[in-house]
Amino acid sequence: MNTEYLSVKDAAGEEALCRAAEIIKNGGLVAIPTETVYGLGASALNDEAVERIFTVKGRPQDNPLIIHVHGSEALKMWCSEVPEAAYKLAEKFWPGPLTMVLKKKNCVPDRVTAGMDTVAVRCPDHPATLRIIELAGVPIAAPSANISGKPSPTSAEHVRHDIDGRVEAIVDGGECRVGLESTIIDLSVTPPRLLRPGGVSLEQLRDILGEVDVDAAVYRRLEAGERPKAPGMKYRHYSPRARVVILDGAVENVAAYVNAHRGERTAVLCFDGEEKLFDVPVCLSYGDPARPETLAEKLFACLRELDRDDIDEIYSRCPPKGGVGLAVYNRLSKAAGNTVIEV
Ligand code: TXA
Ligand code: MG
Repeated sequence: MNTEYLSVKDAAGEEALCRAAEIIKNGGLVAIPTETVYGLGASALNDEAVERIFTVKGRPQDNPLIIHVHGSEALKMWCSEVPEAAYKLAEKFWPGPLTMVLKKKNCVPDRVTAGMDTVAVRCPDHPATLRIIELAGVPIAAPSANISGKPSPTSAEHVRHDIDGRVEAIVDGGECRVGLESTIIDLSVTPPRLLRPGGVSLEQLRDILGEVDVDAAVYRRLEAGERPKAPGMKYRHYSPRARVVILDGAVENVAAYVNAHRGERTAVLCFDGEEKLFDVPVCLSYGDPARPETLAEKLFACLRELDRDDIDEIYSRCPPKGGVGLAVYNRLSKAAGNTVIEV
């Protein structure tokens, strides 16, 4: 299939958005930019199109999709019980990197929710995608636009690398501002439960909701038989080819450990200004730990850059676990198969 490239950065923007919306209305697949990561979108109301999303990504069938909507009015269209808290969160964080899980109405196809009685809903903060949703007139079901198991794409180039020729179109809306997938909060249970950390922090959610539980899958690998509430959290994820190891400790200890254990094919993910401490073939900084949003923004691009044949081991500095740092820690731990060494 010949994939169309639709750039929304120039004057032809509105025309490109109309084309993207038309493809979606006709049951096609379009990769769409959001502020978190690129999504692989299709009409949530078209079972065949949704089915193709799973095929193109190689996604397990039991992993439900998020539907992307234009604003909080959509909540009552697709969800059967909408607590006041949902509107409060929408008011504060939409459009933005927050997904809410709510009891679904029957009109939401089972194919989207993988048979669950809840649906995940998000209003993304990207003008191009908001316009596409509006023009298409349907909610857009979209997982991250990567091949399953790989880091999520934060640029149109990443998307092209993963799924060129397998979708009708890719909309290039520039680089993603947040860089990690949205926070997922389950409001169908009491107290609300954080299923996946993201750009909206646990602290921000607690400010509005009061008590919030945190799903065990956020911090650690689950034991055999344990099930996370977000089915996607059980899979190994975000992984380059190489083995990833998180080193938790002061920078001197991390450098000493790496320099004693490194091989010919070792890479390091460090923080800004630390590069010279590491005696390894490849060393990349993924940002400034005092500003964890910089780590979020660059993590996936760095993991993709290190996904090379000549690297088989990546040691990473451990991000701080507060604020957006928790999301960075969560994604990095998944990439590392939860291998954390305290040094
Ligand atoms: O930022 C994002 O959320 C991106 C952009 C494209 O919007 N999307 C994204 O989708 O990350 P995906 O499919 O890669 O991750 C969705 C996660 C999965 O872990 C899935 O299991 C969970 O959301 N999920 C979806 N529906 C759910 C539901 N009804 N209950 C619990 N978890 C759900
Ligand atoms: Mg994903």
